[in-house]
Amino acid sequence: MSSLNNKRVLLGVSGGIAAYKSAEIIRRLQDQGAQVRVVMTPAAQEFITPLTLQALSGNPVHTDLLDPAAEAAMGHIELARWADLLLIAPASADFIARLAQGKGDDLLTTLCLAHSAAIAVAPAMNQAMWRNPATQDNLAVLQRREVAIIGPDAGAQACGDVGPGRLLEPVAIVEHCADLFQTGSLDGKTVVITAGPTREALDPVRFISNHSSGKMGYALAEAALEAGATTVLISGPTHLTPPHRARLVAAVSAADMHAASLDALQNCDVFIATAAVADYRPNQVAEQKIKKTDSDSMLVELVKNPDIVAAVAAHKPKPFTVGFAAETEQVREYARAKLQRKNLDLVVANDVSQADIGFNSDENAVTLIWPAKEENLPQQGKHQLARELIKRIAAQLA
Ligand code: C5P
Repeated sequence: MSSLNNKRVLLGVSGGIAAYKSAEIIRRLQDQGAQVRVVMTPAAQEFITPLTLQALSGNPVHTDLLDPAAEAAMGHIELARWADLLLIAPASADFIARLAQGKGDDLLTTLCLAHSAAIAVAPAMNQAMWRNPATQDNLAVLQRREVAIIGPDAGAQACGDVGPGRLLEPVAIVEHCADLFQTGSLDGKTVVITAGPTREALDPVRFISNHSSGKMGYALAEAALEAGATTVLISGPTHLTPPHRARLVAAVSAADMHAASLDALQNCDVFIATAAVADYRPNQVAEQKIKKTDSDSMLVELVKNPDIVAAVAAHKPKPFTVGFAAETEQVREYARAKLQRKNLDLVVANDVSQADIGFNSDENAVTLIWPAKEENLPQQGKHQLARELIKRIAAQLA
C-alpha cells in the first residue's frame, strides 16, 4: 500500500460548494502521514473559513500574494519549494482555465508557476461546465504538462443536475495522490543504502562520532521504496523512524557497517553511501571506563577505518555505486577526485560551508558528478532531492 509518509502537500482550495470537503481532505492526507499547508483563493473563503483549515492543518492558511506578514513568515517561492505535491482540490473550471493559461495573478496560480515538482487537480463543477469544450481543452493542456487530473466523480450535484463534475471522495483523492509518488522505476531491483553516523568506542561508555542526522539516507530509502526497489537500510545510530518496508540493519561502528554492507551485496543493484563514516577509530578500546589521571593531556591513538564505499565498488559484480562528498572548498574538484579514487559511478557533492543546508538540515543543494557530466540540483527538501536522485539512478539502470 502506498502512503504519503513524510510528504509535504500544499493543498490549494479554489471556490465552489465542494470547498467544504477540503477540511476532510486535510484529515485524510494527515492520516497517510503527510504534512499539509493550505492556500485558499478569495472565492474559496466564501464557502469555508481560513480559520477552519488553519485549525485542521496546524499551519497558517495562505490567502494573499501581497501580504507582507505572510511573506515574512514563509514567502511564496519558499512555499512552492516546500511542497512535494501541489494538490488543488476542489479545482473550479475557472481555476483550471487560469492554470492552463499559466496565469500568475493570485497566490495559488503563482505557486503553481513557481512549483517545480508534481501538481494534481481534483476538478469540481457543474456537469455542463465540465462537459464544455473550453474546460476539456484546458484539461488537455494540463495533461500535456503532466498535471495529474484526479476525478471527477459523476452523480447528483448541489445545483440539482446529475452528471460528471462532482469532487471525488476525499479518501479516493488522497489514494491517487499517494500513487503519484509510486514510480516503479526500480521494480525488481535491490538498493542498499548506508546512513547516519558511526560510533567508534573508546571505552564502554564513550565514543567518537559526528553530527550526521541520517536524514538524507532515510529519504533515499523511502524514495527507493516508492520506485519499487527492495531496500536495505544499513544505519548508524539515529533518531529517525525507518520506512516500514525497508529492511533495517543496525550498525554502530564503521566495522559493523563495513561487514553489513559486504553482506548485503548479493543481488545488490545499487549501493548508495550516505553514511558519515568515521575515518578513524581508537586503536584500543578500553575494557573498563578510562579513569581521569593527574595529567593535563591524554593521547589516543587512532587507526584508519575501512573505506566502505570503495570496498563495495571493488566488489565483483559491482553494483551501481554512489558516494556522497561533503566539502567546504573546491567542491566539484574534490568530488570528482573521489569519483575516480573510489571507482564510483556517481558522486553527490554538497558544499557544507553553507550553514543552512546539508549536514543535519532538512534541505540540501547538490551537484551530481558523473564520469562525463555534471548537474546542479537546486536547494530543496531532502525528500524531494532523494526522489530526483533515485529518478536519475533508475535512468542509468534502464
Ligand atoms: O572519503 P570521504 O569520507 O570524503 O568520502 C565520503 C563518501 O565515502 C560517502 O559516500 C561515505 O558514505 C563514504 N565512506 C565510506 N566509508 C568510509 C568513509 C567514507 O563508505 N570509511
